[in-house]
Amino acid sequence: MDLLYRKLADELAGLIASGGFQAGDRMPGVRQQAQQHQLSIATVISAYRQLEDWGLLEVRNRSGFYVKPRPLAQIQAPRVHVTTMRPAPVSGQDMVLQLVKAANDPNIVQLGAAVPASEFLPTRAIEQALTKVARQQRVRSANYEFSPGAPELRRQISRRLAEARCAIHPDELIITNGCQEALTLALRAVTQPGDVVAIESPTFYGLLQVIESLGLEALEIPATPQTGMSLEALELALSRWPVKACVVTPNFSNPLGCSMPDANKQRLVSMLKARGVVLIEDDIYSDLGFSQTRPSLLKALDENVILCSSISKSLSPGLRVGWIAGGIHQPRIEYLKYVLNLATATVPQLAVAELLESGQYERHLRRVRSDYAQAVSRMTKALIETFPEGTKISQPQGGFVIWLELPGNIDSFDLAKQALAAGISIAPGPIFSASKKYSSFVRLSCACEWGSRVERALATLAGLIQGYSPR
Ligand SMILES: Cc1ncc(COP(=O)(O)O)c(C=O)c1O
Repeated sequence: MDLLYRKLADELAGLIASGGFQAGDRMPGVRQQAQQHQLSIATVISAYRQLEDWGLLEVRNRSGFYVKPRPLAQIQAPRVHVTTMRPAPVSGQDMVLQLVKAANDPNIVQLGAAVPASEFLPTRAIEQALTKVARQQRVRSANYEFSPGAPELRRQISRRLAEARCAIHPDELIITNGCQEALTLALRAVTQPGDVVAIESPTFYGLLQVIESLGLEALEIPATPQTGMSLEALELALSRWPVKACVVTPNFSNPLGCSMPDANKQRLVSMLKARGVVLIEDDIYSDLGFSQTRPSLLKALDENVILCSSISKSLSPGLRVGWIAGGIHQPRIEYLKYVLNLATATVPQLAVAELLESGQYERHLRRVRSDYAQAVSRMTKALIETFPEGTKISQPQGGFVIWLELPGNIDSFDLAKQALAAGISIAPGPIFSASKKYSSFVRLSCACEWGSRVERALATLAGLIQGYSPR
């Protein structure tokens, strides 16, 4: 019974985190829930009690269990200032390296980089797959697996995409060193230095680094924490500026954790197609939604969308396996991949193919999705209890990062330096913006090794925020 009640509690925690059940909602009755899940009443009651312990539910006057209101304010959608939307080169992104270096230091509490702690990674299954591949395909493992990459891996990726209602033939896929390389190849294939690229604001800092390194100009389009990139703002921007490409993470974007509704996806694709703007889709988080429904892909709406993705968040960042499907841009991308580094390492490609084919990837996903949902609600609860009043917080629908707006006049870059000196890494808001907006925002990773060390770190951070003075 233990496992069953915990499974149900995890699933419901995920639904609460993703907004499926909202503050003040009455939870389905115990009897109804038991019937629906084919569980005993005692199991459902234990699950509800667990959610109560996690601070997610409360019992009201014997009328049932209700989702607890969150005392923290939600982050509001940013106001759209058309006049401030103008393309600009990206600079100063090298400061991100400090953050990334801290991610490998075991003495630092890791709340900064979006790198899952080992308890979220199927390390044993990965070890077994690597060993099996290296033993059974010894000669091939020692050789190049030239672009487009291992056919068995491309077949498995194509199969998974078909399950998400996106038909891509294995020959249309190229294996890359993670999603970062896929994004680099996509932008290199379709732009020249000086071209304008529309991006979400806030956005993943790695994308800003690619834009900086290719000498492109970033045009920041405000994204709302509920539905992602504002299409009204994008439309205005397209009418004013010669945009060459647009990069979007439509499912569980980083750092907002939100998804675009299907109608917006359709509108985005049509809007860009009509203007001949290349659409690049970063799909790295779409396997990590908290609800059971798989989100749709932009690529399914237009075969010439350039799809970039990887298993870095869902399986292992260390294997460095990603992919790209570039439609009409495919030949150019394949050539650029070859020029850049000849091939992606053979053994990780074959090991990922093995993990996909054996069903271990899918089994791991089922577990890790609810682990992440739970990690997000655990962190949210701790922040509500620890951080100063006035802190605003995102409600991600997937992935494992939280975006916070801090009260008062805080320079989060300076705060990050103070936190690092106290042995805690956090990601300051300005690194998610080409024009260094979001000065009082920070991103926290919830996929950390939870325990008293993290709880102490949150208390230290809260103290730094409360008594903040610039150093
Ligand atoms: C939105 C997004 N895209 C791409 C990447 C890079 O992924 P990879 O490690 O597969 O290169 C990340 C990593 O944090 C990310 O968050």
